[in-house]
Amino acid sequence: MSVYRHMVRPLLFRCDPEWIHERAMDLGERVGASAAGRNLLKGLFSFADSRLATEVGGLRFANPLGMAAGFDKNGRVIQALAAMGFGFVEVGSVSAHASEGNARPRLFRLPLDEAVVVYYGVPNDGAEVVAERVSGRPTDAPLGINLVETNTGRPVAAEAVVAEFAEAVKPFVGRADYIALNLNCPNTTGGVSPFDGGGHLRDLLQEYAVIDDLPPVFLKFTAHVDPARMARMLEAVDSFDFVKGFVFNLPPGKDYPLKSSAAEVDPLPGTLCGRPVREMIDEALRFWYARIDRTRHKIIGVGGISSAEDAYRKIRLGASLVQLYSALVFKGPGIVREINAGLARLLARDGYAHVAEAVGVDNEAKAVV
Ligand SMILES: Cc1cc2nc3c(=O)[nH]c(=O)nc-3n(C[C@H](O)[C@H](O)[C@H](O)COP(=O)(O)O)c2cc1C
Repeated sequence: MSVYRHMVRPLLFRCDPEWIHERAMDLGERVGASAAGRNLLKGLFSFADSRLATEVGGLRFANPLGMAAGFDKNGRVIQALAAMGFGFVEVGSVSAHASEGNARPRLFRLPLDEAVVVYYGVPNDGAEVVAERVSGRPTDAPLGINLVETNTGRPVAAEAVVAEFAEAVKPFVGRADYIALNLNCPNTTGGVSPFDGGGHLRDLLQEYAVIDDLPPVFLKFTAHVDPARMARMLEAVDSFDFVKGFVFNLPPGKDYPLKSSAAEVDPLPGTLCGRPVREMIDEALRFWYARIDRTRHKIIGVGGISSAEDAYRKIRLGASLVQLYSALVFKGPGIVREINAGLARLLARDGYAHVAEAVGVDNEAKAVV
């Protein structure tokens, strides 16, 4: 990892972040396309240990560390990511219709904080194209597809958003192992969602309930610790068994204590991701895990994970699976092995034979189901 940090990263960080990301996609697509390339990635970055294997929502995972949504928006590098040792890969966000996203520049690094500010506005190739692409690229690791409404830059009626989500999922039935619904994308509607009230969420899930062979569904929504809002969501979800859990998204903005100067940060549009969000997400995780029916719903913990200790803390607070994105930018691909090997070590140290045994052990309300 120090080769990345001391030699590769300084070169990459001289270039525009989105341009670098596109080059990473080109490279990942080429390397992931051949067995030799995948074996190379496996040898360099993956790590296997029986303690890390787990089952969530009826799916089996070789390890609990996933690639978060937003890195592979269009399903181009799923084979490379799986070969690198991610236990699962979430593609997207993908919308029913293709979208250009917001105007550039729309991605900014804050190296002092190991954070990025994102204002993409969900550019993607559209559901049909992405579904066809991923169908031709089999992976061993479970494939999640994260869906969002098409970004038109204008407010859209709730009924139209529901119809969009219903349309977007159809091409993925039979190919996605799970679906994540991005209910509050911070960069399209400013994080405000027609689903916050509960009623439209029920309408949306009703549309999904009639789809044959629907994969397990996870709901990704703005992290919060508001009991009334939580109750509305849990009530809306209650009669839909295909909803297997929750993922926390980030609120719009950059309202965290930062080392980067205000002069650098304030003018940037968008949402901050990376290390500074860690505690805020941990609080949401603590709150939600203590209150959900854990026999039905699981949590995917994502936000500010950049070490095995970070991942393990989220697991001990209640996350059954974890994901990362920003740490890949700052620490490079070696982060996958570092976290998986570190997690296996921490589980062994604490006497756990399987990662599932550690889920929620630090959550004070763990006795309440
Ligand atoms: C560049 C970038 C693009 C993202 N795009 C999406 C997206 O399209 N859909 C989504 O649900 N989350 C998206 N995210 C959020 C991540 O999935 C994740 O929730 C967030 O980055 C927190 O994790 P991290 O602190 O490890 O980066 C994006 C994040 C980044 C950094």
